[in-house]
Amino acid sequence: MCERLTIARPDDWHLHLRDGAMLSAVLAESARHFARALIMPNLLPPVVTAADARAYRERILAALPAGADFTPLMSLYLTEETDAEDVARAAGEGLIHAVKLYPAGATTNSASGVRDFDRVRGVIECMAEIGLPLCVHGEVTDPEVDIFDREAVFLERVLEPIRAATPGLRVVLEHVTTEEGVAYVREGGADIAATITAHHLSINRNHLLVGGIRPHYYCLPVAKRERHRRALVAAAISGEGRFFLGTDSAPHPDHAKESACGCAGCFTAPNALSILAEIFEREGALGRLEAFASLNGAAFYRLPVNGGRITLTRQPPEYPEKIETEQGAVTVFDPAIPLHWSVAE
Ligand code: DOR
Ligand code: ZN
Repeated sequence: MCERLTIARPDDWHLHLRDGAMLSAVLAESARHFARALIMPNLLPPVVTAADARAYRERILAALPAGADFTPLMSLYLTEETDAEDVARAAGEGLIHAVKLYPAGATTNSASGVRDFDRVRGVIECMAEIGLPLCVHGEVTDPEVDIFDREAVFLERVLEPIRAATPGLRVVLEHVTTEEGVAYVREGGADIAATITAHHLSINRNHLLVGGIRPHYYCLPVAKRERHRRALVAAAISGEGRFFLGTDSAPHPDHAKESACGCAGCFTAPNALSILAEIFEREGALGRLEAFASLNGAAFYRLPVNGGRITLTRQPPEYPEKIETEQGAVTVFDPAIPLHWSVAE
């Protein structure tokens, strides 16, 4: 039985750090294990311009614990007013690594997102020219479409037309949750990839709804049927370059989740790597964890693999059930399976 596993330091290609007191409280949880993370721009107000991204990056760096080795990679929030030249300049300077598309109303702080996709065509064409990835929250917001179908419908109604109209556009289907999403990405050529979260690899919709409603399992896209979770696990452990880790760790204070109208988001920064090691080991695929967590994303984003390494040891991880913040406690995601792997400090 394998007792230790050393891999290149991982990256988190989809992370919510928030701002202010929440940022200060959660940042160390990611910086401890991850060398870099693509920082989501859905603040209030969102990170829309290069100047916004530069200022947010400074606030993140200022909040880092002393001695931390962590690089925030910034993304911009696509709006119908986004200026293509500002995007191109920010990408050219290496300030931003992606632009995030939120369909308006799809999720937390997405009100400034895109309603009319024709109005962002100029920016998207510019991104295709310069090779800057478009990260998409892949759900339609049409009230007629069932919430469990919103990802699959997005692929045919929104993503396929955008990609067909924009050859060369590089796309990351964020937090893919369905068999259809996995198949779409697999068949999509070299310009498309997908991130997969630790929580969608762990839970299906029964975890969310059977025996009582579990607000800490509520996220968007919502967890689907078990066969979809199985498809995600198969993609993650496959070693295929187009699938990589994006935790979508998304802290909300407990009072905002344990509510009559609870917020979407699972806070997985403290245990994401322990969860992955557990799942990969169960599938006999520990040897492909490094590809998923440390190699494939860097290759897609055309960045070098991190120089540092981390070691996972067979030892139950220790982390608090909740992280205290000035805005209240934030519950750490419970994967609903015992964990046996820790990141050695
Ligand atoms: O569960 C989610 N939480 N999904 C998202 O798309 C946004 C995120 C958040 O910002 O809380
Ligand atoms: Zn997210």
